[in-house]
Amino acid sequence: MLGGRRILVIIGGGIAAYKTLDLIRRLRERGATVTPVLTRAAEEFVTPLSVAALAGARVWRHLFDLTAEAEMGHIELSRAADLLVVAPATADLMAKMAGGHADDLASTLLLATDKPVLLAPAMNVRMWQHAATARNLARLAADGILTVGPEEGSMACGEFGPGRMAEPLAIVAAITAALGGGPLAGRPLAGRHVLVTSGPTHEPIDPVRFIANRSSGAQGAAIAAALRDLGARVSFVTGPAAVPPPAGVTVIAVETAAAMLAAVEAALPAEAAVFAAAVADWRVVNAAGKKMKKDASGRPPVLELAENPDILATVAAMGAGRPKLVVGFAAETTDVVAHAAAKRVRKGCDWIVANDVSPATGIMGGTENAVTLITAAGAESWPRMAKDRVARELAARIAAALG
Ligand code: C5P
Repeated sequence: MLGGRRILVIIGGGIAAYKTLDLIRRLRERGATVTPVLTRAAEEFVTPLSVAALAGARVWRHLFDLTAEAEMGHIELSRAADLLVVAPATADLMAKMAGGHADDLASTLLLATDKPVLLAPAMNVRMWQHAATARNLARLAADGILTVGPEEGSMACGEFGPGRMAEPLAIVAAITAALGGGPLAGRPLAGRHVLVTSGPTHEPIDPVRFIANRSSGAQGAAIAAALRDLGARVSFVTGPAAVPPPAGVTVIAVETAAAMLAAVEAALPAEAAVFAAAVADWRVVNAAGKKMKKDASGRPPVLELAENPDILATVAAMGAGRPKLVVGFAAETTDVVAHAAAKRVRKGCDWIVANDVSPATGIMGGTENAVTLITAAGAESWPRMAKDRVARELAARIAAALG
């Protein structure tokens, strides 16, 4: 997608600089050549060594680097690229650019270039909302400078609002689009089929009563929407959920676990399958064909339960036709990571998204989620964030894993 493209990556001094390491990796995965430039402030957040290692190229840090070694002048360095991306673009860097300053290597390159420039702003919400930043942004837009993000969310400084740097894959998509990447730009899953299960299941007791659970289906719907947004063709197998299914996906509505398994098997093959449904563990074996009546003797009926098929484990154990990536969820209330890691192995899936659903967290039925992604490589805890942000992050990971 970016094969042979030369991207000059200017890293500004903000906490989001760590995400730029991932951006560099992703650009290189797609065949781009990366030339990294660090501002002095950026060196407080990431080391030149890690940047050089990921970029597979030397890091440019000072105007002095260029003149002392007479390897390449700043005009040449800025023009030898197809595109310049500034990530994170701090309030200060944006102010410098808007004012046309050139007092260090980064600002000089930005002033000297004749190539497209893309900013990925990242800063505290108040700095982003300050009139000076808005003025600078308008000036830069008028100058033809492109931007991606920032996104809204909780920030490293503890505040909430717009100011988070766009995710690396969103920046990759913006770079691809700026370079005229065509219709596939920003749609790394275009043409790929993925399957998502969602919602609770209902297990009938009789024609009017059932056993259910409190799953709203919100997280599963958000994951399906995020995968759709990355271009995937999504089969969405859902139990009776409280939230509506997203538009633009193939909805297969089911009620019971048995019907969900049959629908999943019918929807396969898929390249990735995400099992976000809260499937009932048991069904009623002696479900009545007619509405049950109170017994004249006053004895309440006894429900006999049988274990439901484990859909996740069944799919994970498939030989031929197994999705390349099988992702399960683990809702736990104690020792979340340990239980979920054991579950990953027991169920034979590739990843587990674990979360703590203790009532005090307000996660089940709420709008936010705090998850830990467990893979063969280990556990990675994500900050508490809106369920649709969790979904977008997970979808981006899935896209990267499918390559
Ligand atoms: O065993 P537990 O229910 O905690 O596992 C949760 C994971 O397994 C979820 O991904 C859920 O969708 C999946 N699951 C399933 N079929 C079942 C039970 C759970 O697919 N019968």
